[in-house]
Amino acid sequence: MGSRAPAITMRNDSFSDGDSVRGEPLSEKTETENASEIGCLSVIVLGASGDLAKKKTFPALFNLFKQGFLQQNEVHIFGYARTKLSDDDLRNRIRGYLKSGNGDSSATSEVVTKFLMMIKYVSGSYDDESGFVHLDKEISEHEISRKSNQGSSRRLFYLALPPSVYPPVCKMIRHFCMNRADQGGWTRIVVEKPFGKDLASSEQLSSQLGQLFEEPQIYRIDHYLGKELVQNLLVLRFANRLFMPLWNRDNISNIQIVFREDFGTEGRGGYFDEYGIIRDIIQNHLLQILCLVAMEKPVSLKPEHIRDEKVKVLRAVTPIEDDDVVLGQYEGYKDDPTVSKNSNTPTFATVILRLHNERWEGVPFILKAGKALNSRKAEIRVQFKDVPGDIFKSKKQGRNEFVIRLQPSEAMYMKLTVKRPGLEMSTILSELDLSYGQRYQEVVIPEAYERLILDTIRGDQQHFVRRDELKAAWEIFTPLLHRIDDGEIKPIPYKVGSRGPDEADNLLKKAGYVQTHGYIWIPPTL
Ligand code: BG6
Repeated sequence: MGSRAPAITMRNDSFSDGDSVRGEPLSEKTETENASEIGCLSVIVLGASGDLAKKKTFPALFNLFKQGFLQQNEVHIFGYARTKLSDDDLRNRIRGYLKSGNGDSSATSEVVTKFLMMIKYVSGSYDDESGFVHLDKEISEHEISRKSNQGSSRRLFYLALPPSVYPPVCKMIRHFCMNRADQGGWTRIVVEKPFGKDLASSEQLSSQLGQLFEEPQIYRIDHYLGKELVQNLLVLRFANRLFMPLWNRDNISNIQIVFREDFGTEGRGGYFDEYGIIRDIIQNHLLQILCLVAMEKPVSLKPEHIRDEKVKVLRAVTPIEDDDVVLGQYEGYKDDPTVSKNSNTPTFATVILRLHNERWEGVPFILKAGKALNSRKAEIRVQFKDVPGDIFKSKKQGRNEFVIRLQPSEAMYMKLTVKRPGLEMSTILSELDLSYGQRYQEVVIPEAYERLILDTIRGDQQHFVRRDELKAAWEIFTPLLHRIDDGEIKPIPYKVGSRGPDEADNLLKKAGYVQTHGYIWIPPTL
């Protein structure tokens, strides 16, 4: 853990076949961004005793520490919450969620203990100045004790809190906990959805935060943007000649972006019932993916250039028609005592978005998400049009598809018709398959939160949602969400462990998707 880690997250540089792969960060960095990596760093996790902090934030910080991205002599982590706890109480709560990865149990692992000793706990309320004055004192003491270490003070506030307390907490941070201007450095705020429930509430939240912090200080997490294959989309699309001429309405029939979970809302019924699957998954995670699939080539890899192109995609989406929507609710959902008995909340939705622009006019983007279905996966499925004048038509199994499997078993595969091997001249649907588990056996794919926290420290906003992006996303879905909230559109019941309502499959067919019967992609085993 001695020297500074390389500026990349991919861990092994060379592969057995002799080709070498050296990762370089893709965003172009400014001098200010480079400078933002120097100096004493305090990471403050607000809501430190809650679930998100325990399960995601602290483990992500731990993994960064393990890989040498958080240096013990430069970094201090503070937990802040209302519960009265000692430093050790917090450490003991977190310990079980940290995996040392070397076979040691977290109770005895040296690296876990070293990491936990970097954490201090401060208790206080979220809207009272005394707690934040105390927090500032603790952070400052840490900064002074590390002053010999050179440089400026960097303060990263991670709000692992419900959005209802974002405004008071941000106000407290703004007034009592900012980095000292005379020392230089920065203060950054990390927040996560739900950012409001519709356009008006989201805009209200945005302007409350906007009055306190500049946009470059606010990092809105959409954790899907931290997933390996989502981050790969830009490379895939714009670094390969192969895709350039194909990626348009002339060749592509339809695109599906699918999220399926094989469990229900266990333990989160109360939250979920207020939001539903469109606000929970489609308006953010799937829409972000759509932007990356549909956008034009950015002028450069600068975060603002990329985000400019994403916003243009969102602005090209036409108003959603009722005929392009199927909602579902799994049977038994309302048995959860935290869910309203008359709930109209969808746990499943298929929504077709249509883009009015030169590249995509006429190509349906089918966004589909559901809980309590028959499988767990997230994927992008690009289906190509039929071959014109096809001389093999009567012998063929299906269309070309390019599938990007985000999880589980990260992969990309292209479905191609080839000659069936053997004496007879017949065809078979096969695939060109890049399965990560097989091709990159020694690479540990980082967790989304790990990358995103590292990006925040480095000041790279490429994988975070900009305020105008968020607004444009809400503009697309708000009218539909209001119709659902008013009970004008009702979800159709579906069985737990099914594919969702049959009506959703019919909508897919209507949109032009042709299912290939009898073809199954099996992830290769090692
Ligand atoms: C969260 C949603 O944003 O994403 C959850 O609130 C969902 O409902 C989760 O289960 C899925 O994330 P992942 O990374 O497991 O696909």
